[in-house]
Order: sequence, then structure tokens, then C-alpha cells
Amino acid sequence: MIEVKELTKSYGPTLAVNQVSFDAHAGEVVGFIGPNGAGKTTTMRILTCYLTADAGSATVAGYDVLEHAIDVRKNVGYLPESAPLYLDMGVVEYLKFMAEVREIPKSQRKERLRTVVEICGLEGVIQKDIGELSKGFRQRVGLAQSLIHDPPILILDEPTSGLDPSQTIEIRNLIKEIGKEKLVLFSTHILPEVAATCTRILIINRGELVANGTLEELIGQVRSEDKVHVAIRGAEEAITTKLKELDSIVGFTHVKTDDGVVNYEITVAREGKNVTEALFNAAVQNGWGLAELRQESVDLEHIFLHFTSGQNGNISPSSELTTEVDSTEEE
Ligand SMILES: Nc1ncnc2c1ncn2[C@@H]1O[C@H](COP(=O)(O)OP(=O)(O)OP(=O)(O)O)[C@@H](O)[C@H]1O
Ligand SMILES: [Mg+2]
Repeated sequence: MIEVKELTKSYGPTLAVNQVSFDAHAGEVVGFIGPNGAGKTTTMRILTCYLTADAGSATVAGYDVLEHAIDVRKNVGYLPESAPLYLDMGVVEYLKFMAEVREIPKSQRKERLRTVVEICGLEGVIQKDIGELSKGFRQRVGLAQSLIHDPPILILDEPTSGLDPSQTIEIRNLIKEIGKEKLVLFSTHILPEVAATCTRILIINRGELVANGTLEELIGQVRSEDKVHVAIRGAEEAITTKLKELDSIVGFTHVKTDDGVVNYEITVAREGKNVTEALFNAAVQNGWGLAELRQESVDLEHIFLHFTSGQNGNISPSSELTTEVDSTEEE
């Protein structure tokens, strides 16, 4: 539904988008993330025909963005970063106007209007002018206009920015629901939102697409190991010996001992066996008190920093290890 090939765009000397390529299909919710100024808005503006690329190509719903802008716009609902709303227009007046611009048949306009007002929670403000609305409600009106023609593709530039928590959840659920049949491409700085909503994640940094995959795939690319934190009340020497015997443990660090409780950071092979269970059993068998047992997995924040910090690999747990488990000792 969206096919982007080596898209490039500069503003004077600023290379905003640099040879970006990806595609996306119906049934996907694609999260577009990256630091401020990375090129998200520029890419979205090109895909919605508000901006022309310098090089490369893009088709949306099968139409080339350069040659068939009108067809592209018919198939796309777009929420711009700062919605160009007409401040002296009434909410209903504006949505009616957008329905007309979108060429919705007259007979269907009332029903579409009613639907988007309900979806975006605008019932309480339909009598007001847009200029009187708070930021979050203006954002809702922007969302309503992007949905009014029931397009198969939605491109939303920070759709939940400025929304209150309950509306954020509603919009998030809406995006998920829409994404079951349609294609949603949206940008955000709220990473848990991406983890909760997206079937795929695109990360852009300094104009370049640096990652493209499911959350699981990106986790795998960032590191092949997980961390387990364990705090055990018992004899340190015996515990250390036991840790060296356990399968799947790549290495561990003795962090500190508090009141007879020994704390370890353990590095575990991601594909390895269930280490937390093995640790629990070892504690039971040896009569140790298990004060804490917690698995720390890579989250999207780690992934984001990994791909955008410019010094990939700075979160590798191996660098913190003091005890490497020697595989020959395991037998
Ligand atoms: N109209 C413009 N004129 C000149 N430079 C621009 C213009 N719009 C964007 N840029 C530059 O292009 C680069 C990409 O900007 P863009 O708005 O696409 O980033 P973004 O990823 O959407 O960032 P944010 O998360 O802050 O919204 C930045 O360096 C920005 O300063
Ligand atoms: Mg932006």
C-alpha cells in the first residue's frame, strides 16, 4: 500500500531525508520513531503530497505521489504535525467543509460526520469555534478530519500529542482497531505507545532509516542476551559455584552484599533455558532465601537509544561483566 524507494529530500544544506526505503501493507500499524529533526514529518509530508522529494520514489495505494497526487489524497487520511485548522470556523462547519473537499457524497456526509464526532469524542464541543478549543480538542478535530472520508491509509503525525491520558488510550485503541483492516503509519515520541500499538517499527535517525522490524526483531538485533537480577541470602561462595553450573548463563557480576543478601546481575543467553526457574530451584534445594528475582529485558527505550545514539552497542551487557562463565566448567 505504501512503497518508498530511496526517498531523499534536502532543505537547502539540510539533508532531511536520506535514501529512505520501506514498504507497508494493509493490516499493519507502523510506528515511525526517531529523535527531533530526524525526518519523520518530512517523510510523511512527501507521502501525502504536501512536499516533493528531490530523488527517489513513493507510491501510496498504488499511486505515485508525484504523478497522481489527487488519487493519493483520496486514499489517505493525514493528520499533520500542526493541524492547519481554520480557527474562526465552527467545529461542525469545518468537518462539513472537509467532507465536501474529500468529495464524500452528500447523502453520506451526515453519517460520516456523526461517526467521526463520536470516535474523536467531540460531542461536547460541536457548538464551538475551533479557535476557542484547547490544544487537545484541536488535535481531536484534526484527527476527525483525517478519518472523515474513511480512507484505507492513515498517516498520522504525532496523533496523541497534547491529548489527555484517557483520550490517548482511546486514540491508541482506535489506531489498533483501524489497523486491523487498513494501514496506519504514525509518528510519536511516546515509546510505550509504539510497543502497545504497532505491528512494525521504523526508526529514522538523521534522515536515514536505521531500523525496520517487529519489536521482537529489533530486540534481537540490539542484543542477544537478557539480564536477570537476583538477590540471595546465603553463603556467597556456594552461590557463586552454583551460578557457574547453571546452563544458559553467559556471565554474572556480584553487585553488592547487604545484610547477608548477595546481589548478582546475571547475563543470560536469550535463546537459553529458563534461568529464573533454575535459580528458584537452586535456592530451594540449598535452603537459601530468595530476596529478589527479576528478569530485565530490552525495552523499546534501549532499542531507540541503540539505533539513534550514534554509538551503537553502548548498552551491551557484556561490557559490565566481571565473571565470564567458562563453558568448559559447565560439564
Ligand atoms: N521547512 C523547513 N525548512 C528548512 N528545514 C526544515 C524544514 N522542515 C524541516 N526542516 C529540517 O529537516 C530536518 C527534518 O525535520 P522533520 O520535521 O522532518 O523532523 P521530525 O523527525 O519530524 O522531527 P520532530 O520529532 O521534532 O517532529 C530537520 O533538520 C529540520 O530542521
Ligand atoms: Mg515532526
